[in-house]
Order: sequence, then C-alpha cells, then structure tokens
Amino acid sequence: MSNVSLQALSISYGKTPILSHLDLEIQEGEFVVLLGPSGCGKSTLLHGIAGLIDVTGGRISIAGQDVTWADPKDRGIGMVFQSYALYPTMTVERNLSFGLRISGLDITEVKKRVAHVAEMLQLTELLQRKPAQLSGGQRQRVAIGRALVRDVKVFLLDEPLSNLDAKLRAELRRELKQLHQNLGATMIHVTHDQIEALTLATRICVMNKGVIQQFDTPEVVYSHPANRFVASFLGSPSMNFIEGHLQIQDRQVFFESSVLRMDVSHYAFKVPPSSNQGCSLGIRAEHLFPAAESTAPQMETELLLVEPMGAHQIVWLQSNDVSLAMQTEPQMALSVGEKIGIALQAQKISLFDPSSQNRL
Ligand SMILES: Nc1ncnc2c1ncn2[C@@H]1O[C@H](COP(=O)(O)OP(=O)(O)O)[C@@H](O)[C@H]1O
Ligand SMILES: [Mg+2]
Repeated sequence: MSNVSLQALSISYGKTPILSHLDLEIQEGEFVVLLGPSGCGKSTLLHGIAGLIDVTGGRISIAGQDVTWADPKDRGIGMVFQSYALYPTMTVERNLSFGLRISGLDITEVKKRVAHVAEMLQLTELLQRKPAQLSGGQRQRVAIGRALVRDVKVFLLDEPLSNLDAKLRAELRRELKQLHQNLGATMIHVTHDQIEALTLATRICVMNKGVIQQFDTPEVVYSHPANRFVASFLGSPSMNFIEGHLQIQDRQVFFESSVLRMDVSHYAFKVPPSSNQGCSLGIRAEHLFPAAESTAPQMETELLLVEPMGAHQIVWLQSNDVSLAMQTEPQMALSVGEKIGIALQAQKISLFDPSSQNRL
C-alpha cells in the first residue's frame, strides 16, 4: 500500500491551473525528491499534500486515509519550510515543544521527546538560546526538530537547505540522509538542486510546468532520462546533444549526422526504429574520451576551452556546428586550438525523438 497517494490531483490559483490530473504513489519509508525549475509547481504540490492549499480536483490519501479535505493537523504530516519559520521570542526548547504543549500532551512526554530530538540533531547545548543567537544551519535544525517531535509518519520539506551556504548545505544534506536512515519515515523533499536530488532521493520526481516528467531512482533518471528536459536538467555540464537521423542497413541501425556516424543496433529502442527517422543523440561529458592512437576516433574536434574542476576537468570542443563537453583527468595536458579525435562509450548513449523530445 502506498503511504502517500495522489490521484488525478488538480490545483489552481484562481483560474490559473498549476497542476492538473497529477498521479503519484509514494511508498512507506521512501525519500522522494520533487525536482524541477523554479515555478514548476513543486511547492504547490507539497502544500496541497499538507492541506495548506485546497485542491480543485482529485484525491489525496495518506497511510490509507482519504485526507483530501482533512485539516492540516489531522494529516499525520510534519512540514519544514525554507524560511525556518521559528518563533523569534521563544527559546529553542520552546520552539520545539510549542506544538506539543498546545496539543495538550503530557508535560513529561513533551520533555522526553524534546530531549530525544535535541540529542538527535545536536541541539542539546542550544536549548535555552533564541533563534537570533543561532547560525542558519542551527536554525534549520530547529525547524526540522519541530517536525520531528510530532512523531509523524510523513515529512514534507520545502527547500529546507536553500538558505544555507554551500558547505553547510552539504553538511545538513548528509544529516538529513542519516536522519532518514535512522527514522525510516517517509520524506517528500522539494528542491531545484539536482545534486541534492541525486544524493538524497530513493526516487526523484522530475517536474516541469506542473507535469511529472519522470519518477524513478536517481540512477535511472540520470542514465535513462525519459525525455530531453530530464536529460538536460540533470548533470553538470548538461548532456551533449547531436542532431541527426537513423538509417537501417542490413538489419543494423546507424545514427548519422554531420559529425558522427555510429552503429546503434545495441540500443534498447522502445519502438522499432525506421529509416530516415529524425534522432537526437545524447551523451554525457564523462562518456566522451580522447580516442587512443590505436583506435579510430568517431569525431574530429577542435579544443575551445578547458575548465579545471579540481578532481577532473571539463574540455569544451567544437565539431562543425556541434559543441561538446568532455570530462577528463585533471592532469591531461591539452591546448586551445588543438585537434582532438574523440570516441564515445556506445553503451551510454540516449536517443530522443526531435519532435516529441521523448526517449526513443
Ligand atoms: N499564491 C499564489 N497565487 C497565484 N499564483 C501562485 C501562487 N503561488 C504560486 N503561484 C504560481 O504557481 C506556479 C507554481 O509555483 P510554485 O509551486 O511555488 O513553484 P516552485 O515551488 O516549483 O518554484 C508559479 O507560476 C507561481 O507563480
Ligand atoms: Mg517552491
């Protein structure tokens, strides 16, 4: 049984539809990341699940209960926002316990839970401080703690790490993952940061313009993108694309373009390909490499620019009208203007239909 089930969910602001007929099934204990560009409807979806916005159609179930019209406090969810939303005049201890106190929970139980959560999030030393006396990371830990004390089954997190600097963000990201491993609770986490999505998620739900583009494990979303939007959105640098068409000869399938001709017979086509059908070939920077002297290069390129990245470097190449990014070892000595023969890992290609943009 799904822990969180959305069926034909529609949400509008006034007359503007943001989500329409969206379906999503999240299993118990999953860490689902909603990933997409700013304005694509991630927060709207999360707020809909939380009950902070009314839906215009469809159904929301949590743990088997229809909660479509339930009050937010009766949905068994805990929510963490980007803007911490702490009470500035209350101590950390008060901020953590406030919700429990007003719900009338026994005071010994309140203290026990606050102590436990403070321990888990390394907040014990800070319990008597006010939010203004905390760093951004500590404030966000309090905000997460406030959701944790409620002992809910589903946590909804809306860009909780976005306001933190890069180092702290990476640190808190690991803490969140650890927390999820320890609690085993269902988490739905919104972000526009692909690294956050790839590192945290058990499954990533990639969204664009209110529509789910792909919902799968980070590995599959990264290596088998369902369409060009997903292919471009994940990965840095973005996936390389070469425009061309397919040719079938003696039961073999070839990709042909102005810069590359390669046998793609091994490719797992969803529908049998036909000759002269348009085709975009996608290949990631880490799957291109300089052809060895012994093997024939598949493409002739000219080196435009080298970007050192520390552990590796990104080499920008031009082949006719196609520009390509290739990832290499940092010590590889290359000079601008140099001609380089490039080969690609044939098993790693993605092929797309140029008109529908979908994976072939
Ligand atoms: N309160 C609101 N009233 C009207 N439109 C809104 C409101 N909140 C968000 N929107 C619009 O809904 C769309 C989705 O917004 P949102 O869910 O916040 O996107 P995301 O969280 O993915 O950045 C955007 O076009 C945004 O401008
Ligand atoms: Mg948002």
